[in-house]
Amino acid sequence: MDNRPVGVFDSGSGGLPAAGALRERLPNENIIYLGDTGHMPYGGRSKEELIAIARRNTDFLKSFSVKAVLVACGTISASLPEVISADAETPVFGVMYPAVKAALRASKTGRIAVAATERAIASGAFASAIKAERADANVISAACPKFAPMTEAGHFSKDDPFVAETVREYLQPVAEFKADTLILGCTHYSLLKDAIADFLGPGVQQADAGEAAAEELAKFLRERDMLSARLEPGRESFYHTGGGPELFANFAEIFFKRNITADLEYIDLPQTRSAL
Ligand code: DGL
Repeated sequence: MDNRPVGVFDSGSGGLPAAGALRERLPNENIIYLGDTGHMPYGGRSKEELIAIARRNTDFLKSFSVKAVLVACGTISASLPEVISADAETPVFGVMYPAVKAALRASKTGRIAVAATERAIASGAFASAIKAERADANVISAACPKFAPMTEAGHFSKDDPFVAETVREYLQPVAEFKADTLILGCTHYSLLKDAIADFLGPGVQQADAGEAAAEELAKFLRERDMLSARLEPGRESFYHTGGGPELFANFAEIFFKRNITADLEYIDLPQTRSAL
């Protein structure tokens, strides 16, 4: 038994679906969530900047003596698989490998598409991880730079014409490729599931990186007897680093089914460049 909280971070609201999925699986855990809203998007940043961000965010969460960290960010998970280690003193989990495993389980034809940020796609890490497990897989990768900022700005409804148009813009090649499975390799894309399903049709399964990682982390804590001994429901504390807290609170409400405003605090984390 381990009563310490679990830490989760992302560039903004994208990790909230993953944190919500963790909450569903682990009702008694305390969760500390950091949404680095003041420095989003991460998707176009250099590897050096991402290293600095990953360290800074992990150190912030460790200051709460967390028992594990979920890097609920496909960009960091794919660009820096070396920062992710289940063996470290504080285990750090990424979302890429769980997403790839979920996609391989779901795919019948081996035609797998990956949608993620520019940096995550440029790393080639998703495609390599798929090929490492299934050498005959056919992989198509789609960088979708507008998706995360679009959802962060509140545009994610399938009925929003701008959303439908942007989904088409990036995923037309995926439709033509006839993938049977699409990896949502950026956690923000969870919010676009319905719009993507509308465009690609019901024949394409979606492997959600955040949800797959939440499942793995929950299993890891359970198997190692690291769950909280508490009987009452776990609490959540949310931190953001700038921008509009209202929108962040609205997103959190979707996944935690309550108003979180009283548990949301601004934290002044250093600019990533000066953290280098
Ligand atoms: N949600 C993050 C990811 O999974 C970051 C998106 C961004 O900030 O560009 O990649």
